[in-house]
Amino acid sequence: TKVSPYANEPFTNFALDENKKAMEAAIANVKTELGQEYPLYIGSQKVVTDAKIISINPGNTDEVIGYVSKADQALAEKAMQAALETFESWKRVSAKKRAQYLFKAAALMRERKHEFSALMILESGKNYVEADVDTAEAIDFIEFYAREIIRLSEINETQPLSRISGEDNNISYIPLGVGVIIPPWNFPLAICVGMTAAAIVSGNTVLLKPASTTPVIAHKFVALMEEAGLPAGVINFIPGSGAEVGDYLTTHPKTRFISFTGSKEVGLRINKLAAETAPGQIWIKRVIAEMGGKDGVIVDETADLDVAAAAIVASAFGFQGQKCSAGSRAIIVESVYDQVVEKVVALTKQLQIGLPENNFAAGPVIDKTSYDKILAYIEIGKQEGTLLAGGEKAEGNGYYIQPTVFGDVSGKARIMQEEIFGPVLAIAKAKDWQEAIAMYNDTEFGLTGAYFSTNEERIAEALDTVHCGNLYINRKCTGALVGVHPFGGFNMSGTDSKAGGYDYLLLFTQAKLTSRKI
Ligand code: NAD
Ligand code: ALA
Repeated sequence: TKVSPYANEPFTNFALDENKKAMEAAIANVKTELGQEYPLYIGSQKVVTDAKIISINPGNTDEVIGYVSKADQALAEKAMQAALETFESWKRVSAKKRAQYLFKAAALMRERKHEFSALMILESGKNYVEADVDTAEAIDFIEFYAREIIRLSEINETQPLSRISGEDNNISYIPLGVGVIIPPWNFPLAICVGMTAAAIVSGNTVLLKPASTTPVIAHKFVALMEEAGLPAGVINFIPGSGAEVGDYLTTHPKTRFISFTGSKEVGLRINKLAAETAPGQIWIKRVIAEMGGKDGVIVDETADLDVAAAAIVASAFGFQGQKCSAGSRAIIVESVYDQVVEKVVALTKQLQIGLPENNFAAGPVIDKTSYDKILAYIEIGKQEGTLLAGGEKAEGNGYYIQPTVFGDVSGKARIMQEEIFGPVLAIAKAKDWQEAIAMYNDTEFGLTGAYFSTNEERIAEALDTVHCGNLYINRKCTGALVGVHPFGGFNMSGTDSKAGGYDYLLLFTQAKLTSRKI
């Protein structure tokens, strides 16, 4: 059957009462299933361990989302053996057949879209829109990578090699082997699904170690793949401690690649450990590491200031600033600084804080560690700038923090340089647009950025010189769409893998040239 052209999954409009009611019903339904136990998946076995990861609702910490079995090194080794064995058969399954499992999974996820989103609302603290967008992105990744592997499998027809007489030459993209997939919690469905789907549709088998704060939604995806008929052992699900299980698998001689998305610190550790050759290892491990950001929005004096202010607030505070793409810095040209700051502060103060299941604009941060770290940065901010909004923890039986804005921050301040990963915006003043770009570029990161201007020459200069993987003009710096805005960052933001783009599957494959005398 012919595959339809790729199109992004539409977002749900929650201004419509029927959609809001549908999400409320899905949340009520998911609530009846909370507190269950979830096993590991190792080959065809479901393994229940005594040790458990207890996943809780960050917006209501008395609510347990689920008890998830926890792998140790011995179980990780068993999972590695299962993945190695399954690779021998999975790599022989045709690309088109592998894609069919993904198409089936996308259809199933689409049918149960709100159920997935509702679980994320409860497990990660997203509001309705943020959860809906996450589920839509997960569906997009599945659909996109399924088409991509078909395209790569037909590449000799679409992009033939130069022909010479007497030979038939072909190139094929074959899988690598067993990969370790280590996603973060902040897009607990989309990134987990995207990283896993890309690896398996390319013919690899994987060990999926989900983030410890969001293992239940990761399990829901693994269960969906089982329902879609994916052979056992292609995805082995092994929640566990990053330090224990992660280090063990990173240094394992049979690990062929590691696909990681998370913090700079952990990414660099994985990169370093993976560079060592373990006894018995016969390849150079491939590391795909997408890491943190200190993304920023630049506004010059020719910009539409209302649009810019709204974009600064959306970029800074969507999902409480817990996006790698979050605009945690704003750099504003002096002559419009006061006007923009006033608008930003007014919009920030309108953000109401409360339980994600009641769809408040501002919800909790993910856990106690993040909560303490963000509050500590807010205290640093009070020394480094002028507090203009927020600045305190907020009411609620969870990890709530007021959306916080600091003004008059110097470009070198810690809150301008370090990733806080919470609802904290630092604003700096630049004397002109050139200085604003220089200040933006004065960072070790390079993930997303936005430039607001109506001046074509400046826009052209910004397009050339603002150094980040995803640069947006006159729009917010969050919200990349699969297939539309391939996503990945420069410098300490990672390996610029461009998830959701046309180069991505090459990272999970190796090109084999075959030449036959005719
Ligand atoms: P994290 O680095 O703390 O954890 C990420 C994953 O690594 C988790 O699954 C964790 O259990 C695991 N881990 C921890 N120690 C490990 C080890 N020694 N070996 C192997 N795995 C280990 O990050 P996080 O808090 O889950 O996510 C937030 C971070 O992710 C932020 O820095 C954010 O910017 C970044 N992020 C980047 C992107 C991107 O595309 N660049 C996307 C989303 C999030
Ligand atoms: N796709 C996410 C964003 O761009 C990471 O915000």
